[in-house]
Amino acid sequence: MILVSGATGLIGRRLVETLSGAGVRVRALSRHPGTADLPAGVEVAGGDLDDPASLSAALDGVEAVHLYSAGQLGDGFAAVAARAGVRRVVVISGLHDDPAAVERPLTGAGLAWTHLLPTAYASNAVRHWGGMIRHDGTVRAPYPEAATAPVHEADVAAVSAIALRGGHEGRRYPLTGPRSLTFREQVAILAGALGRELAFVEESPEQARRRLARHHVPLPVIEELLATWAAAVGVRAAVSPAVEQLTGRPPRDFAQWAGEHAGDFR
Ligand SMILES: NC(=O)c1ccc[n+]([C@@H]2O[C@H](COP(=O)([O-])OP(=O)(O)OC[C@H]3O[C@@H](n4cnc5c(N)ncnc54)[C@H](OP(=O)(O)O)[C@@H]3O)[C@@H](O)[C@H]2O)c1
Repeated sequence: MILVSGATGLIGRRLVETLSGAGVRVRALSRHPGTADLPAGVEVAGGDLDDPASLSAALDGVEAVHLYSAGQLGDGFAAVAARAGVRRVVVISGLHDDPAAVERPLTGAGLAWTHLLPTAYASNAVRHWGGMIRHDGTVRAPYPEAATAPVHEADVAAVSAIALRGGHEGRRYPLTGPRSLTFREQVAILAGALGRELAFVEESPEQARRRLARHHVPLPVIEELLATWAAAVGVRAAVSPAVEQLTGRPPRDFAQWAGEHAGDFR
């Protein structure tokens, strides 16, 4: 049995579909199992990663866990998972996590891990720009020449599905899409997918800071985002071979993601 955390979220939902579609026994974790709205036949278990004691039923009989965010990984989770008989954890961390610090509690509890390190999700486009594009088709953002190699959520899910079955223990896999694209290029690709013109208006970092604060983004997160984007200006984003190595096919391109998600911007 595989337990997928973050199962109602971006990556987790795709992963649950991928695993159940492949006939793998999968249990989805949600803090709100009654409203999880997952595919028929998928077992949904209640539990909160911030309260590891609440996970005992969800972890019963589980061999491998997909942990959607390293932020949810404390000694508490690792100990509870190990006691429940879990053998492997596939953990996703963020750009600013220290990889060794993410892996340490898992190793310490005797759990094998595979560590996925996506650099930027393609879905950041809808997270950061979706509201503005739906509102008036104008993206107001700082650092238009900052570049990322956005990875499709389906590729992250596909890699996790493979790692969860074993054979990739102790490995770190950076995950990216197939090419480096500036924010300006990403907006142009979105315009193509939407079949309409989109304007890009460059904000100063201070304007971005104020806008993000108005949207209740916590101050440390704002500073982290601005620093990450500033550092990515004029630098080609590294492209990782991991998606192709594990899945046997090239990562999905941002243009494909944009075509599939055009409805989110209308
Ligand atoms: N954005 C990027 O470019 C990027 C890049 C690299 C890594 N990441 C990592 O990706 C993570 C976000 O992943 P995502 O986008 O897949 O998440 P997401 O779509 O925001 O979904 C998170 C899901 O986790 C569940 N959840 C939240 N708190 C929980 C808790 N205490 N216990 C159990 N479940 C909980 C929620 O489900 P319920 O409400 O149903 O419980 C929610 O559906 C970030 O933490 C970051 O580290 C992001």
